[in-house]
Amino acid sequence: MSYKVGYLIGSLSSTSINRVLSKALIRLAPDDLEFTEIPIGGLPLYTPDVDEDYPAEGLALKRAIEASDAILFVTPEYNRSIPGGLKNAIDWASRPKGTNSFDHIPAAVIGASAGVLGTALAQQSLRSVLSFCNARQMTSPEAYIHFTKEVFLDDGSVANSSTEEFLRTYMAEFREHIERVLTVLPREK
Ligand code: FNR
Repeated sequence: MSYKVGYLIGSLSSTSINRVLSKALIRLAPDDLEFTEIPIGGLPLYTPDVDEDYPAEGLALKRAIEASDAILFVTPEYNRSIPGGLKNAIDWASRPKGTNSFDHIPAAVIGASAGVLGTALAQQSLRSVLSFCNARQMTSPEAYIHFTKEVFLDDGSVANSSTEEFLRTYMAEFREHIERVLTVLPREK
């Protein structure tokens, strides 16, 4: 069985270290996970005023999430929480009321920062949001990545064997989590 994983990168930066991390995660993931980025940068700011006539950008985001078997969030920490652009995307996907695209979806969160806390507070914040959205989160292992350019190379290779093994295990565990959730809660597409 192969699984489609949609991934959201919380950063809109052209030099995002979280994008580099996402490349490493894809390289180290089990072969039967297929990855598609779900872009968030082109979304307008969400307002309930549009709920009656949802714009194409919001619908495209919802359809991309709904077409995925699971969602991986790779996010930086902004001011001890998640970037506004990522929260905006989650708000879009969760609405209109009664059509929450995250309902029961298997999900995992991970992030990289230049500092040693490794986005721990952003991930706590994101977990709280995803709990309300009823996503089925992988709770263990957690992964708080202290990014250095010596270890995380631009092409997605990881120049430290214990970090590489840790990330490989993280992705293998995510695959197991996806399978467990979908066994109980198959996705209707
Ligand atoms: C940051 N950064 C940051 N780092 C951190 O560890 N905790 C924090 O709360 C914040 N807050 C924060 C706010 C804003 C507005 C910016 C622009 C940056 C630093 C951040 O970790 C660093 O810029 C990373 O490179 C961001 O990840 P990307 O965008 O490179 O993936």
